[in-house]
Amino acid sequence: MTTPQFYQLHDSSSPAVLHAIRNELTTGLLAARAAVSPKYLYDALGSRLFDAITELPEYYPTRTEGAIVKQHLPHLAQQIPKGAALIDLGAGSCEKAEKLFDALQPAHYIPIDISVDYLRNTLYRLQRQYPMTRMSGVGLDFSAELTLPPELLSLISGLPIVVFYPGSSIGNFSPDDARALLARVQALCAQGAAGSGLLIGVDLTKASEILEPAYDDALGVTASFNLNMLLNINHLIGTDFDPQDWQHVAFFDAKLSRIEMHLQAKEEVTVNWPGHSRNFKRGEAIHTENSYKWTVPGFAQLLQSAGFAAPTSYMDAKDWFSVHWALASA
Ligand code: AVI
Repeated sequence: MTTPQFYQLHDSSSPAVLHAIRNELTTGLLAARAAVSPKYLYDALGSRLFDAITELPEYYPTRTEGAIVKQHLPHLAQQIPKGAALIDLGAGSCEKAEKLFDALQPAHYIPIDISVDYLRNTLYRLQRQYPMTRMSGVGLDFSAELTLPPELLSLISGLPIVVFYPGSSIGNFSPDDARALLARVQALCAQGAAGSGLLIGVDLTKASEILEPAYDDALGVTASFNLNMLLNINHLIGTDFDPQDWQHVAFFDAKLSRIEMHLQAKEEVTVNWPGHSRNFKRGEAIHTENSYKWTVPGFAQLLQSAGFAAPTSYMDAKDWFSVHWALASA
């Protein structure tokens, strides 16, 4: 039986990467308006807390996207080529892609995540279940670059390339950064055979009464997810953050069409780490995440500005979430 292959292209423990992380976090914490990239929400505990968020009654995106894909799978399967190389961005547990397997029958499944170790067990299990599909896990920070190892590219040469990017993770990028990432995805798809394209899930703008509880739930799971970032930063650069000094704040900025998450100092506090310290006044905050909410025409335009054809878009009955299939070229 075929066994999965693994490629680790991102070494998060290399001195160069650790140095870059220290610089990035220090610059963010010392900025007049302190800000830290949302990628630091996802250490091992943060990833588990995020999984818990997706189960919360207030957090509608995951279950709404799942329902849209389920309802429209037969139609999607008519448009998306079978026997493709299915590239799963930010695959994690590979659960969402697995639901596409029977309908799309990919020839080669390529989940990408920051660490290939997250993918190992799942990929061995999936390989046993789908022996006809070749499987290759890739450890890569695709928000920085999206190039597959040459050996893998030659294995998928001649196949259509279908990139799958679910969960509205694109919403965690500013519109400019989202366009740049989509353009990299388009360039990758353009290397595939006719029919290559992108299947992507995108959260839609809606009343703040729905949006805000999704990011500030009654059980406080999202608050814990946000506060855990402080523990992760302590671990990464030796800061002395005490999560008890901080509170989770989330609100919808309708003008910018984005949820903002912050960590706000409950009282004046000084944070120290090797070579540095920063005083935060009571109420001062660290900006930890944006989650942009799109309109269907706005996102269709974004896809086209990144080089894709006009997408076919699918929504739920309440127009809360959208799933788009866009061919790499018109
Ligand atoms: C991963 N990402 C799409 C989530 C979102 O909805 O922006 C992250 C998240 N932050 C708070 N809750 C969920």
